[in-house]
Amino acid sequence: MKNKKFYITTPIYYPSGQPHMGHAYSSIIADVIARFKRNDNYDVHFLTGTDEHGLKIQKAASKAGLKPLEYCNKISDIFRQLNVKLNLSNDDFIRTTEKRHFNSVQHLWKQLVDSGDIYLSKYKGWYSVSDEAYYNSDEIVEKNGKKISTFSGSLVEWVEEESFFFKLSAWEDKLLEFYEKNKKFIIPVSRRNEVINFVKSGLKDLSISRTSFTWGIKVPNNEKHVIYVWLDALTNYLSALNYPNLNNDLYKKFWPASLHVIGKDILRFHAIYWPAFLLAANIEPPVKIFSHGWILSGEEKMSKSKGNILNPLEIIDIYGIDETRYYLMKEVSHGSDGNISLKSLENCINSDLANNYGNLCQRVFSFIKNNCANNVEAYKDKLDSDQKIINETKNIIGELRNLMEEQNINSYIKSVINISFLTNKYINDEEPWKLKSSNVKRMNNILHLALEQIAKISILLNPIIPISTSKVLDALNVKKSNRNLSFLDGENILSEKISIAPLNILFKKIT
Ligand code: MSP
Repeated sequence: MKNKKFYITTPIYYPSGQPHMGHAYSSIIADVIARFKRNDNYDVHFLTGTDEHGLKIQKAASKAGLKPLEYCNKISDIFRQLNVKLNLSNDDFIRTTEKRHFNSVQHLWKQLVDSGDIYLSKYKGWYSVSDEAYYNSDEIVEKNGKKISTFSGSLVEWVEEESFFFKLSAWEDKLLEFYEKNKKFIIPVSRRNEVINFVKSGLKDLSISRTSFTWGIKVPNNEKHVIYVWLDALTNYLSALNYPNLNNDLYKKFWPASLHVIGKDILRFHAIYWPAFLLAANIEPPVKIFSHGWILSGEEKMSKSKGNILNPLEIIDIYGIDETRYYLMKEVSHGSDGNISLKSLENCINSDLANNYGNLCQRVFSFIKNNCANNVEAYKDKLDSDQKIINETKNIIGELRNLMEEQNINSYIKSVINISFLTNKYINDEEPWKLKSSNVKRMNNILHLALEQIAKISILLNPIIPISTSKVLDALNVKKSNRNLSFLDGENILSEKISIAPLNILFKKIT
């Protein structure tokens, strides 16, 4: 029985425009981690969805000439389709316009009223509709006669209206205490420091309702106010587990969330507001927030307004989904921004997938087909060169769980692809083709070891490139129930005698 639980989420996306590479990036990170954890025998719940309320969406709908819900139905569906294209393994897709979510948000609101953390007053200050965020005066500059946020560069407007407030200032010390006790709550450390410094500089109470538009969840017993879209949106992580039904199996099993994957632009909401709301409502905060960097195109954040969007759907159609996933996960360093281009995508596909892992599989499979009638047997006697690659692999593998535990996917991939490189080198050095008539037993041993390496590499790369690695594992006749990470603790995957099935070309070299 599985007793290790893992609840992982992506941000829920604004359906205010078409999905782009940045969205795909957040989702693929979460998917890779979810798949890794499933392969490592965890019971995983993986959630994604769309964030459909607020002024930004209301405006986008009216621009499109549609009612907000009609508009959201349309775009939310496009995000669902993208998820299929991205080969996401999510267990649930939540929309904030669903009834289960309304109940959950209104209940959380009432909890905050009961705890004495909400009061009515008037908001006077800056607001960015594009970020759905309030900014302090010292976070605003004037550029070309327009006021913009120094944090995001988005246009801000002056707002004065009656508003309910959350007593965020009262949670300053408790938040700092919480960060101190939970050193890994925010990853990477640079982001953690940023958050701690921001909290230390003083928190102001947060406006959590608006009266100047209607598209949102109403404040309980007050039709005039809609709940601030970020309080609404963050609650999705609870609604999907059927909160406030605390006895519900999903909630009991999966809360607190193990990991929220988010971009650095929405860190403040997740690392400050979210734990403050939860602590105030007496709900345990999530275990960890991983804040990734931005995908840049030509050194700039990819965004609709900058017109530098690489459309993920087009790229997947041209290059393939495994290739796109691999590239995004390998190219961008842990927590940093990463510049992407078609040129480096093509280089990456050629060097890592076609010439390295793909070539390893192809050369070994076709050699065995042509010379051993698809059958290979391992014999006891091992040479030093065999032991050397076995040990090198063991050393690399020993670090992999930690790398994934730290969400360091690009280092994880580099390590695994290095095993593939070493295995190619082992075959070059051992030259099994020279042993065809002189030493068939030795040739079998070399090939068997190469297949064992291929099986390990395939299981390790499976979270990143699930389609191609499944083809290899199918061709190796590895049972589905054996495609897990128990070999990390030292076991072998393949039996002594193996029959393989034919394997077609996995990755086409781009010329
Ligand atoms: N709706 C909010 C999230 C609410 S979560 C309770 C939101 N939506 S978003 O659609 O604007 O962005 C969603 C995610 O996409 C964020 O994690 C954001 O960082 C990510 N990206 C959007 N553009 C990006 C890049 N160019 N690069 C990498 N990720 C970026 O914010």
